Amino acid sequence: MIEFQRISKTYPSKDGGVAALKNVSLMVTSREIFGVIGLSGAGKSTLLRLVNGLETFDEGSLTVDGVDLKTSGKKGLRDLRQNTGMIFQHYHLLHHRNVAGNIAFPLELLGYRKPEINQRVEELLGIVDLKEKKHHYPAVLSGGQRQRVAIARALATNPKILLCDEATSSLDPITGGAILTLLEKINRECGVTILMISHQLSAVSRICHRVGVLKDGELIEQGAKEQVLGYPREAYTKLLIESSEIHGKPLVKKEVV
Ligand SMILES: Nc1ncnc2c1ncn2[C@@H]1O[C@H](COP(=O)(O)OP(=O)(O)OP(=O)(O)O)[C@@H](O)[C@H]1O
Ligand SMILES: [Mg+2]
Repeated sequence: MIEFQRISKTYPSKDGGVAALKNVSLMVTSREIFGVIGLSGAGKSTLLRLVNGLETFDEGSLTVDGVDLKTSGKKGLRDLRQNTGMIFQHYHLLHHRNVAGNIAFPLELLGYRKPEINQRVEELLGIVDLKEKKHHYPAVLSGGQRQRVAIARALATNPKILLCDEATSSLDPITGGAILTLLEKINRECGVTILMISHQLSAVSRICHRVGVLKDGELIEQGAKEQVLGYPREAYTKLLIESSEIHGKPLVKKEVV
């Protein structure tokens, strides 16, 4: 579904460039939830932004749902973006539009007709459980409600892939947990493939099926969640896990392996 093959990406800078991704190979299969963890600056957002063409790469190949991003052209990129929703840590809602208006926005851009838009908006409000907030503006919503609006908007065009960039990092544990439960439901019931990045290992541990670890642009370890978080191979992964364990509570149940 999403296949990174030997991807490298360097951002230009005055002193020779920042190597954000180095020779990254990674396969996200259809209908799975794949999590990428790593410290700040490891290259997580860069990796995610490649998938919907928000960022370009220098070397390697990237195929998304059978489309090769190097050769897809403008139409291919347009189709890809329609097929790929994205949510962010800070929601990025349109403040002058109410909840329904935010969710309708991508459909309006694509020229859908009003009755179709209204029907889809109602459906999405049901999925994210925000029917009663339909006419409210983002300014009066809580963080969790804002993220629900962002999720509904990201799903408006019925994408097969949802990219999540630190989607719960600004939320308290209970509200963040409810968002993770919603993402899990979307994955299970709507068959949406989720690629999520987070520095919160607890979030990744809670809903991901497989996990990859990025360190300074290199994918140093990947595998089943129980494997990577329960029996990390790399010292860096162990360090990440130890620093996020609360009172010695393990992130995954080891006996599951
Ligand atoms: N537009 C840009 N121009 C130049 N350098 C950039 C740009 N975006 C990111 N970088 C650099 O690339 C590296 C990877 O950044 P990236 O944002 O992908 O990391 P991250 O893992 O998402 O970090 P965080 O957890 O802080 O969000 C960093 O060294 C960053 O400074
Ligand atoms: Mg980031």
